[in-house]
Amino acid sequence: MKVAVLGANGQLGSDVCAAFRRNGDEVVALTHADLELTSASTVEAALSASMPEFIVNTAAMHHVEKCEADPVGALQANAIGAKSVAEWAKRAGSTVSYVSTDYVFDGKKGAPYLETDVAAPLNAYGISKLAGEHFTSAIATKYFVLRVSAIYGQQPCRAKGGLNFVELMLKLSQERDELRVVDDEFITPTPTVQIAAQLVALSRSSNYGLYHGTAEGSCSWYEFASEIFRVTGARVRLEKARPGEFPAKVPRPKYSVLENRALKTARLNVFTDWRDGLKGYLNARTEAAVAAS
Ligand SMILES: NC(=O)c1ccc[n+]([C@@H]2O[C@H](COP(=O)([O-])OP(=O)(O)OC[C@H]3O[C@@H](n4cnc5c(N)ncnc54)[C@H](OP(=O)(O)O)[C@@H]3O)[C@@H](O)[C@H]2O)c1
Repeated sequence: MKVAVLGANGQLGSDVCAAFRRNGDEVVALTHADLELTSASTVEAALSASMPEFIVNTAAMHHVEKCEADPVGALQANAIGAKSVAEWAKRAGSTVSYVSTDYVFDGKKGAPYLETDVAAPLNAYGISKLAGEHFTSAIATKYFVLRVSAIYGQQPCRAKGGLNFVELMLKLSQERDELRVVDDEFITPTPTVQIAAQLVALSRSSNYGLYHGTAEGSCSWYEFASEIFRVTGARVRLEKARPGEFPAKVPRPKYSVLENRALKTARLNVFTDWRDGLKGYLNARTEAAVAAS
């Protein structure tokens, strides 16, 4: 199968390209240099030049503070960009998958969100991604919307300046004696390799629709940091931040844990517990360091 990956040099996109290639697919890796989401003609040209049967759109404007400062830009990239991709897919008879986010929810449920729960985003980023979901599902005949959460991968996140949470914690643990991390925001840390494997599994199915796609279980950022230091044996004193110690500049959900109900019902879920995902990431990180030395 011919697969186009948008955002191919991103944190998630690079693992998505690798996963499809491993499965024997022909991958057309499209970066920002190849197409501009806010320009329908460049989306159309890049896709028409390669004629993919399956499209994975990981590209996005997703720096939350930048989206809040430029909501029109966020809507143009994340919503109108998704519309252009969906329109091309419908015309070509191709399948489109749109990578979305846990930030479509307000976090007030206090229990894992299902695909059937009503989305109520708190910020411009979440609103723009929800609009992208709607354009995708309203226009494309064959589509997957996959909501992911707190992702981390071996390639740096281009929008967030390079270091994912694991790398940031490990770096800070070498620089400081004590670290303070928030314990009142709950997420499910999810490695990008598992999301990539999930997208491959979805591409082999015709169970089109909306899916939650995160690792199993949940934790606070403090608990995530604690597990990183436990597994790596990093020597640093970890403390819970006081309420309000790190005020968010933009409203964010305090609880954005997702349940992969639709994937499980369709018997397509590939995700494991978030602690296993972390171990896999740390092992791959060690192997990469050994190979590079
Ligand atoms: N990071 C998270 O924790 C998180 C959580 C939930 C959902 N997500 C979603 O996961 C997806 C992948 O995130 P990631 O961490 O892999 O991001 P990333 O590393 O920042 O990669 C994003 C990619 O999109 C490209 N891009 C940005 N704006 C574009 C535009 N206007 N036109 C064309 N390409 C554009 C970037 O290119 P340049 O860098 O060259 O501009 C880059 O290749 C996004 O859809 C995001 O909304 C992320």
